[in-house]
Amino acid sequence: MLENTFVIAPSILAADLLHLGEAIASCEAAGADWIHVDVMDGHFVSNLTFGPVIVEACRRATNLPLDVHLMIDDPQRYMEAFARAGATNLTVHIETCPHPHIALRQIKSLGCRAGITLNPGTPAAAIQPVLPLVDLVLVMSVHPGFAEQKYLPQATSRVAEIRGMLDGITSSAWLEVDGGISVETLPEVREAGANAFVAAKAIFRHPGGITAGIQALRDVVASP
Ligand code: DX5
Ligand code: ZN
Repeated sequence: MLENTFVIAPSILAADLLHLGEAIASCEAAGADWIHVDVMDGHFVSNLTFGPVIVEACRRATNLPLDVHLMIDDPQRYMEAFARAGATNLTVHIETCPHPHIALRQIKSLGCRAGITLNPGTPAAAIQPVLPLVDLVLVMSVHPGFAEQKYLPQATSRVAEIRGMLDGITSSAWLEVDGGISVETLPEVREAGANAFVAAKAIFRHPGGITAGIQALRDVVASP
């Protein structure tokens, strides 16, 4: 899979769900790299969102990689369903995995790229033992559950810390950041070492529309 150096991943959490296919098509036409799907179960986080049927609908709407973020308890129970539905990346929270090595190996055996993520309050050291197994690390820069929250500034140093860990094992895993990403916050997390950026509000609530929102992020990610 040939991908840009920097990935922009619109989160459909803030899309107009009555017109999801058109929203995804607009993202793709505007140069989005991945489509980020926020799966929430009302237990691990207080909100409820999408299941495998929505991932399957997204899969029919685009050939872009589907970046599926599982904010659910007992994620191993549902991995196969999300993989069958067409997920490209399957990312699980370290807080939900008593045996993360097994969960990550299972994701790979299902043919998906394996991602690990952690809440803002979880020490970065918690994911260190599994870093050699992952294709993607997702750093939460808000407390997960809702779009349109404010970027937590301590995420920047966490990204830098995890960039150091990945470089220390010469890992080429994606380092993705999720929550409050905008033209204002993106430059500092890119500087800290992130190379994939999730955004809901900055894209779907941009006053100029989806295309303008993606273009604005693309411009700042590319600027020196
Ligand atoms: C938060 C989700 C995020 C969220 C990002 O729980 O994981 O993906 O949709 O939304 P913004 O970009 O609006 O902060
Ligand atoms: Zn997310």
